Amino acid sequence: MDQPDPPRCAALVPAAGRGERLGPGAPKALREIGGEPILLHAVRGLLASGRVDLVVVAAPPSAEGLAEVARILVGLESVVIVPGGASRQQSVALALAAVPADGESDESESVGYDVILVHDAARALTPPETIASVVDAVRSGLPAVVPVLPVADTIKSVALRPDGVDTVGQTVDRSSLRAVQTPQGFRREVLVRAHAAAGHDATDDAGLVESLGEPVGMIPGHVEAFKVTTPFDLVLAEAVLAGRQRHGDSMNATANVTAHVTPTLPLIGIGVDVHKFATEQDLELEPRPLRLAGLDWPGQGGLLGHSDADVVAHAACNALFSAAGLGDLGSNFGVDQPEWKGAPGSVLLAEAARRVRAAGFVIGNVSVQVIGVRPKLGPRRAEAEAVLAEAVGAPVRLSAATTDGLGFTGRAEGLTGIATALIFNASDGA
Ligand code: CTP
Ligand code: MG
Repeated sequence: MDQPDPPRCAALVPAAGRGERLGPGAPKALREIGGEPILLHAVRGLLASGRVDLVVVAAPPSAEGLAEVARILVGLESVVIVPGGASRQQSVALALAAVPADGESDESESVGYDVILVHDAARALTPPETIASVVDAVRSGLPAVVPVLPVADTIKSVALRPDGVDTVGQTVDRSSLRAVQTPQGFRREVLVRAHAAAGHDATDDAGLVESLGEPVGMIPGHVEAFKVTTPFDLVLAEAVLAGRQRHGDSMNATANVTAHVTPTLPLIGIGVDVHKFATEQDLELEPRPLRLAGLDWPGQGGLLGHSDADVVAHAACNALFSAAGLGDLGSNFGVDQPEWKGAPGSVLLAEAARRVRAAGFVIGNVSVQVIGVRPKLGPRRAEAEAVLAEAVGAPVRLSAATTDGLGFTGRAEGLTGIATALIFNASDGA
């Protein structure tokens, strides 16, 4: 069974005024703020609200006016242009008449516009959120809704004197006053009825609905929904747009920083390797020179292991594999891969670095700390770092620590190497 179409919202945009209070120039809706016509800002805002399915623009009725509006709105979907009337109310009535009635076909879809907005083109910078709130308020059950702001100035009525000097009639209690903005939202049937019954020219459509005795709800408006009326309002509008631009730029800048940093966040790896020193009996059976940090250490008894037992190089390999998610020393060069048996640590380290790069990473640096009593690394640190850096193709730093005589390292029974590696995803341009 076909689902009924969801109720929809049409927005009427009176844009046919001349803008006399703005001073000489093109009709107001065609004047520009931020380099774009006022009308375009207004229509975009409506569409950006996510609530408006159809926009009917009442354009300046001259041939040039209609052509200019068509040019301005070209490419925007769901926009209809009609010639406006002699008054705002007439322009609204003409736009309302152009909204397809229930059941009428609109591009082969059966339509039903349950909510009608009336929105001055001149309120070009009304935030889409305010527009959405008006639609939602009507859908929540009110026959008509207007966005309003409290009045900031003290308001006084004028007592007209025969000598032409204005004097104060009385001071009006401003706490009960609200300044009314657009878009004003209506249940369609209510607005149609109000316009049919209109016996006077109202400056807003809610006024016509009030005449019907229907309640008109108020929701918070927005300072940026001001109506561009005078030249000062153009200055204000430019300032609002410039502020949005700055805010947008800073939001974009934040997004760019995030976009830049997130993918290029480095990946860190950790690796450990431990080997025990060959005992004197071991060395009698098979002489084993010490290989550590890619260097030979003549006169020092060596470490026992499947390869040369270079805990520095091996810890560095583990750290690199760990950072890249490529397993560890055992899974890369283990007993099931005999071609690596006996390979010097620096060779394994170079191969580990090659595999990490082949997996799409750039190597930032590797740091290794050796824990043990001997050999003293300090005098050959630079030499070792150079050899290891050559193997890795990136800086390698080497440090050493003893354990105050504690543990197997403290008793000089073996050595521990602990390493970290920092790598980056090559696709992030690191
Ligand atoms: N409007 C309209 N048709 C008219 C008169 C006004 O569609 N005959 C529109 C205006 O284009 C504007 C909105 O109604 O978007 C609110 O009117 P207002 O701010 O008074 O605009 P203008 O009438 O153009 O300005 P002015 O009164 O200064 O001439
Ligand atoms: Mg006017």
